[in-house]
Amino acid sequence: MSSKVPSDVVVVGGGIIGLVTAWRSAQQGLRTAVVDPAPGGGAAQVAAGMLAAVTELHYGEETLLALNLASAARYPSFVAELTEAGGEQLGYRSCGTLSVALDADDRAHLREVHALQQRSGLASEWLSGRECRRLEPMLAPGVRGGLRADDDHQIDPRQLVKALVIACERAGVRFHRQWADRLLLVRDRACGVVLADGTELAAEQVVLAGGSHSGLLAGLPVSVPVRPVKGQVLRLRIPPAYAPFLQRTVRAVVRGSDVYLVPRENGELVIGATSEEQGYDTTVTAGGVYELLRDAHELIPGITELPLVETRAGLRPGSPDNAPLIGPTQLPGLLLATGHHRNGVLLTPVTGDAMAHALTTGELPQDVRPFSPKRFGALQEQAV
Ligand code: GLY
Repeated sequence: MSSKVPSDVVVVGGGIIGLVTAWRSAQQGLRTAVVDPAPGGGAAQVAAGMLAAVTELHYGEETLLALNLASAARYPSFVAELTEAGGEQLGYRSCGTLSVALDADDRAHLREVHALQQRSGLASEWLSGRECRRLEPMLAPGVRGGLRADDDHQIDPRQLVKALVIACERAGVRFHRQWADRLLLVRDRACGVVLADGTELAAEQVVLAGGSHSGLLAGLPVSVPVRPVKGQVLRLRIPPAYAPFLQRTVRAVVRGSDVYLVPRENGELVIGATSEEQGYDTTVTAGGVYELLRDAHELIPGITELPLVETRAGLRPGSPDNAPLIGPTQLPGLLLATGHHRNGVLLTPVTGDAMAHALTTGELPQDVRPFSPKRFGALQEQAV
């Protein structure tokens, strides 16, 4: 069985990255299809939605920083355009972020982070513990100092995917709400996918945007180097009587683990996230919930008063260098949009633009070239 109308582009995976790729592709006039049993599900339903180019800067990630900043700079116009196209508010808040230290070791570490941010030309301000508590009175009395980064914002990823699905539908993207089973190849060129019900979906170009599952499609003659990195996340509710509980995102490294608290406009408080490498497992564990609550409680003792409304785990797609894989592969007709690891929500605008450029010209924009999948050399051939 084969689909009657062939597509220019078929996108495998309807998460944030697949949807933004499809939306931008359709805007270029390309006949575009998305294959996903539940578009908008997956990691977008779990992610906290921090747009944290400054506070998530790590040593050795200067090239990625440039891409993160480019995407952060596009966010205001991206939000305006998508709000219009999707008819939904996206929960975008330019609220800033406060990273705090709980003891002398944390403070020394945070001072080094501050120096790195300054060397990288990023705006952040060192505050004493007292100044941190003046900004955020719910902080623990023992906080020893902190970094204020007013350029790190947030968006609600659940609203974001909802709007992207609507924007895609309005732009003419066709949705196939089922799994893709296998890549179709003709003479060493990707030319579509076979769906779970046996339908053959022919396309000029195939984009793998299935997050950590991107490499699992049967029939791939190249390996797609992504692995799942599990993150457990909690959602609490801030009753009106407690508002404003926090004005901005508050985060810290506690016993070597990142913990962050993201207060939404709608009264939700998102607490994340674990980082676990143990395969395709999305079980919420007692240990994960305990560690998040314990660490968050050290920062903000008052969280114990709040209703805990949801616990969930998602899978970040990690690549060998934890930077994204964007654009054409060595296999003609096959492109990737995956591997965004901790930065999928932040990198959404720049990924959509870069993929539309690649799908229409065959090339990546200059600033995205370092993230070509080809940087891993000839992707090793794998047995089909
Ligand atoms: N960017 C936040 C996380 O991956 O946990």
